[in-house]
Amino acid sequence: MNQLRVLIIEDSEDSVLLLLRELRKGGYEPVYQQVQTEETMRTTLQEEAWDLILSDHEMPFFSAPAALAVFQESGMDIPFIIVSGAIGEELAVAAMKAGANDFIMKKNIARLIPAVQRELRDAENRRKRRKAEVESKERYREIQILSGRILHAYEEERSRLARELHDEIGQALTVISLDLQYLQVKLASEESFLQEKIKSSMQLLEQTLDYVRRQIVDLRPPSLDKIGLIEVVREMARELGSRADLTIDIQEKGFSRRLPADIETALYRCIQEALTNTVRHASASKVAIEMLKNSNEVSADIQDNGKGFDPGHLKFNSKGVGLAGIRERVKLLGGKLKINAAPGRGVRISILIPLSDHAE
Ligand SMILES: Nc1ncnc2c1ncn2[C@@H]1O[C@H](COP(=O)(O)OP(=O)(O)OP(=O)(O)O)[C@@H](O)[C@H]1O
Ligand SMILES: [Mg+2]
Repeated sequence: MNQLRVLIIEDSEDSVLLLLRELRKGGYEPVYQQVQTEETMRTTLQEEAWDLILSDHEMPFFSAPAALAVFQESGMDIPFIIVSGAIGEELAVAAMKAGANDFIMKKNIARLIPAVQRELRDAENRRKRRKAEVESKERYREIQILSGRILHAYEEERSRLARELHDEIGQALTVISLDLQYLQVKLASEESFLQEKIKSSMQLLEQTLDYVRRQIVDLRPPSLDKIGLIEVVREMARELGSRADLTIDIQEKGFSRRLPADIETALYRCIQEALTNTVRHASASKVAIEMLKNSNEVSADIQDNGKGFDPGHLKFNSKGVGLAGIRERVKLLGGKLKINAAPGRGVRISILIPLSDHAE
């Protein structure tokens, strides 16, 4: 037997017995309480857990509409079924509109069990759905927190690597370069073979130093902390533009004051990825960057005139993480991202990030 906790709102003992008999016939073992007033309904609802409410429509001190109001106030989601002697169609419709799950005439009491079974099943499904929704929201929140931490760790690690490259390898190469210069001066000029060797070593060293410097800037521009976003973007554009034969135009407005560090880093990384993508994939000749800041928000718009791509196709076929990284960074800052792309019509990436009051 299926135990069922039923709250019965009813003044007639005979009706209560009728309901209990029907429930037992339907295979339930009812554990019930009978209430006849608003006050007792309120306390009984709070004190115990219920599976089902069965309510008469009209009673001397209470009514189904009033009981429905109390029930809805409680925020519970269990079936509420009206079982009444005779109510007009209008009242029945009004009761359903007010939130009753079903109404049953006593003369059709055989309908009770199927209605109870159906409503219990529906309520259980709603409960499961709510639970799944809560769980998926929690999981999403956890993923958000995790991706925030990963991005933070990524920046930390890149800073550490940049520092190490600068302090260890950069310094060592500089010392070697000075030693070579010393040797060059000390060597007798007639030892031309050795002179040549030293000269080519110094050239290689210069190239390596240049490479290390570029790697350091690429890992984390030391100047992002010092000179700020706009100047760093200009530097990056100069460097990339000359390397890739690309005209990069930068327009900016409103950046008289620095932005919070996390926003500067995020925007820098997004623009860096957008420009790298243009160089790698677009075969473009021009890029326009527009950056605007006001007291409420900061925006960056990066548009190239290259071959573009089909976003629909990309959704399922890209192994890249660059655009996903942009999306993640923007989302973490509560911002909005638009990627407009079509084959043959270039790519435009628009980022909008809200600024809280303290950012001004
Ligand atoms: N500016 C662009 N012009 C043309 N195609 C682009 C452009 N930007 C992105 N794409 C297309 O979108 C794809 C996905 O870009 P995404 O940055 O996510 O990955 P990726 O650049 O291929 O690899 P990763 O960034 O992970 O090194 C690219 O492979 C390319 O096909
Ligand atoms: Mg990329």
